[in-house]
Amino acid sequence: MPHTSAILNTPTVVTSASEMQRLVRAQQAYSKRVGLVPTMGALHAGHLSLVQRSLQECDYTVVSIFVNPLQFSPQEDFSKYPRTMESDLAKLADLGVPTVFSPPAAEIYPPGFSSYVEVGDVTKAWEGAVRPGHFRGVATVVLKLLQIAPADRAYFGRKDYQQALTIRRMVTDLNVPIEIIVCPTVRDNDGLALSSRNVYLNPEERRHALTLSRSLRQAREMFTAGERDAAKIRDAIRKTITSEPGVNLDYAAVVDPLTLVELSKIDRSAVALVAARVGATRLIDNEILGHPEI
Ligand code: PAF
Repeated sequence: MPHTSAILNTPTVVTSASEMQRLVRAQQAYSKRVGLVPTMGALHAGHLSLVQRSLQECDYTVVSIFVNPLQFSPQEDFSKYPRTMESDLAKLADLGVPTVFSPPAAEIYPPGFSSYVEVGDVTKAWEGAVRPGHFRGVATVVLKLLQIAPADRAYFGRKDYQQALTIRRMVTDLNVPIEIIVCPTVRDNDGLALSSRNVYLNPEERRHALTLSRSLRQAREMFTAGERDAAKIRDAIRKTITSEPGVNLDYAAVVDPLTLVELSKIDRSAVALVAARVGATRLIDNEILGHPEI
């Protein structure tokens, strides 16, 4: 079988979509279960937890590294988004990942490209409202990656809750034959949710940023103590975040886990979503109140 083991422990870097598709199909022809971990690189322990899960559950793991221009608005950080290919490859080599798919932009968006994926209701509020076009870009590239590397399972982090829900919705609606696995958020010891954007924070901003996870911990404590009034939990989160200097709250909400509609009362479970700007860096985080639904 070609490319099934990492010669010298270095992942094979595939840049061609048709070659990637051929490699995945070759594995499946031998009844191998294939896992795909889509990323934009700048890999941290959160990404690596997805990779480890795929390595445990699948016979062959592909990690894609592609900074997708379509999901950044012109005002966002596409050109300065961290690109750390060498150290990413070293981390993946350490874990024993056999294959990395890292295409040039023209391989994904060739001249004349004009087909896009619009996912409905779940993309409209929260991140979708603050970042118009973002989920269209995410859904389009993820559907393309699922065609290019038609794996059996694909792994996403719960930290980007609305993204994970959007991808599940798309896969269900468009009958994409893949299982979407949503994995828990990984946090630093101080509680900060891992994100490739954390590298932009200076030490002072990083201290301020901890207010996001602190507010969500308080929300969980309120829920655990029996609070089911969603507005009370939301207001507590808002109060904590807005009283932190240097942090500008975009939104804090307690929502239905599957529709993302804001709740007044929590019957079964809910998700507390927060987004804030700390200096020039925009951070998001969330906490599941009750049982995870995705
Ligand atoms: O979460 C990310 O890193 C990206 O949004 C994804 C899913 C790889 C699509 O570009």
